[in-house]
Amino acid sequence: MSSNQVQALLGQLTLEEKAALCIGATPWQTVAVERLGLPHITVSDGPHGVRRAIDPTSLINESHPATCYPVAAALAATWDKELMFELGQALGDECRALDVDVLLGPGINIKRSPLCGRNFEYFSEDPVLAGELSARLIQGVQSKGIGTSLKHFAVNNQETRRFTVDAVVDERTLHEIYLTGFEIAVKQGQPWTVMCAYNSVNGYLCSEHTYLLTDILRERWGFEGFVVSDWGAVRDRLPSLRAGLDLQMPGPSPHGVRDVVEAVTSGALDEAVLNRTVERLLTIILRAQQTPKGGSINIESHHALARRIAAEAVVLLKNEGDLLPLTGDETVAAIGKAALTPVFQGGGSSHVKPTRVDAPLELLKERAEVHFVEGDNLKSDVNHTLITEAVSAARAADVAVLFIALPAQIESEGYDRRDLNLTPHQTALIQAVAAAQPRTIVVLNNGSAVNMRPWIDAVPAVVEAWLPGQAGAGAVMDVLYGVVNPSGRLAETFPLDLSDTPAYLNFPGEKDSVRYGEGIFVGYRGYEALDRAVLFPFGYGLSYTRFDYSHLRVSQPSFSVGETLTVSVDVTNTGARAGKEVVQVYVHDPVSRLRRPPKELKAFAKVALEPGETRTVSLTLDPRAFSYYDPTYSQWVAEAGEFEILVGSSSADIRLRQTVTLTSGTPLEPRLDVNSTFGDWLAHPRSAALVQPLRDLLLGNQNSLDSETLGSDTTAFFIDLPLTTLLGFQGQGSETTPKQFVEQLLEQLYSTKGQP
Ligand code: BGC
Repeated sequence: MSSNQVQALLGQLTLEEKAALCIGATPWQTVAVERLGLPHITVSDGPHGVRRAIDPTSLINESHPATCYPVAAALAATWDKELMFELGQALGDECRALDVDVLLGPGINIKRSPLCGRNFEYFSEDPVLAGELSARLIQGVQSKGIGTSLKHFAVNNQETRRFTVDAVVDERTLHEIYLTGFEIAVKQGQPWTVMCAYNSVNGYLCSEHTYLLTDILRERWGFEGFVVSDWGAVRDRLPSLRAGLDLQMPGPSPHGVRDVVEAVTSGALDEAVLNRTVERLLTIILRAQQTPKGGSINIESHHALARRIAAEAVVLLKNEGDLLPLTGDETVAAIGKAALTPVFQGGGSSHVKPTRVDAPLELLKERAEVHFVEGDNLKSDVNHTLITEAVSAARAADVAVLFIALPAQIESEGYDRRDLNLTPHQTALIQAVAAAQPRTIVVLNNGSAVNMRPWIDAVPAVVEAWLPGQAGAGAVMDVLYGVVNPSGRLAETFPLDLSDTPAYLNFPGEKDSVRYGEGIFVGYRGYEALDRAVLFPFGYGLSYTRFDYSHLRVSQPSFSVGETLTVSVDVTNTGARAGKEVVQVYVHDPVSRLRRPPKELKAFAKVALEPGETRTVSLTLDPRAFSYYDPTYSQWVAEAGEFEILVGSSSADIRLRQTVTLTSGTPLEPRLDVNSTFGDWLAHPRSAALVQPLRDLLLGNQNSLDSETLGSDTTAFFIDLPLTTLLGFQGQGSETTPKQFVEQLLEQLYSTKGQP
């Protein structure tokens, strides 16, 4: 499809048709214009499987079966970009089979607090990890001619009052923590659509946030697709349209269409704004038509992929005395309802109807002699009868495997968790079983960190399986029995205590305001800066083998700001089993004008190694890897000086380090203010668009300040005058004072606010 086609169509659409296109026809479809042969497109949740509504005219209804893959929390724990691409391709194929044009995902909001009920649907507390993985996922889906919707843009980090809460976040934190992941995903993945969040950011609804939807997303990052609202995020169609929100969902909304038509007719809305939105919609709608739909889901091979991904995501948290892997000769007490009825995905809009589901118990029985007891019924109250049964089963077997899943009433879209605890019953059960059976293994199903302090010392082996999708049971068996050597790594810190979490005092805010008081010190950035011990650090995970790091080198120990740096390290598998290591590269800036975290993840790679094998892993660091966002200058800044490159196996296990020197830093743009001179304004690199009308205004022939009147070069003559003074000389002041006028210009240059 060409832009000519889009223009031709745009020219033929009536005002009413254009207004109608900006709002869904149904909860899951856009408007079709039959007279012009323009079809609708169908969108579907997402993200970890296709939840294609059987009846797209109703908001909540039955969906077609599709593969339920592991949730994003698990995907992130794979730290595997290529696997994300593969998953994306499979999701794209399923969309084709189910006649879906755009999959509503991935969701990459930062896990600011482990309490966020929707953390299972998000990737990480780290923006680089979230951004890089989701970019590959987007590329995979879109390689099949299916669109994605990167969500929820932006600063949607809690479920409590998610429609009404205002996230109050400073500019530096906004850019470094909450926007960076989106930036990476947009620049690398170029998603067909971005979904705006429900909440407000610094006083303005995301759906009306010009700074986010237009200035940042389109102008700074070059986003080319359309922005869709989260379902129900639009309060008022006109400001949202002006801010850059293209498609309101869900539809229909006849009064919304009427408002747009009336506003254009009365002149309240510039038709050019509407046309730009319609252009963006048409571009994607026409692009979607090029992808043939049909075929069927390859249930078996996609189930196998789901199992492979789930296995890569398993994080082995503890394995004292090498209790794992099991040999298969042990008799097993399998305890917990989740062994029989697996808890494999989260609640809410992402809920997929699986094509089939594996249960751990069934698969366990294929490997060992198993005695199953219910043990945990997923209810809160301590049930002593269940515990007594579990204890005697555990005693009678060689090992006890406890299947512990955080119940849906605790963790789901729509509400946040109150604490990090398992249910009182689960805690009591684990303690009792571990006391009776020294060879106890806890297998966890949850979407975010849980408190393990009451029992972790008594339990020798802990397997974090997350919400692993429909094939998760097989993945857990593969790890328990050593068919797969675990290689998942935590994409979020597991704290010792809720009160240690950096956002503790501010989460989830009061009524409709939540202050991001911890600033950039989110996750490991915060725990490390505060010197707080944690249960398991970011990037951590055990293996059945060991890896050695050696020979760290950088392409150039001295570099200048425009250059990239290649970091290479040799990794050797020194154990007896094949395995995978996640090599993590962090950067530390020891001396800086602004306070910086002790370390920040900047690059990573997963590498497979046979026993005894050594491989060189090379990763590239671009200038951004050394930069912070300086709110004074509204720009990314890398300061000249020394940086430490830290290479390791987790944020707390740095194996090698090297100092590099940045010889010249980012040139700082001068900060303009009301006292800035005319010359300052002319010299500013980003005020170009503002300067021309100013020149015309101040030095144009129609006024007294032109060169003919003065007999000299007016620009040079006035260069050192404050702009306010110059405007005063020129007679500015009838509608706004010179100072107000300059303040308006500054607002245009630096505003991070929602409204134009
Ligand atoms: C969720 C989105 C989802 C949409 C459509 C909203 O409530 O926040 O993530 O895509 O519903 O189901």
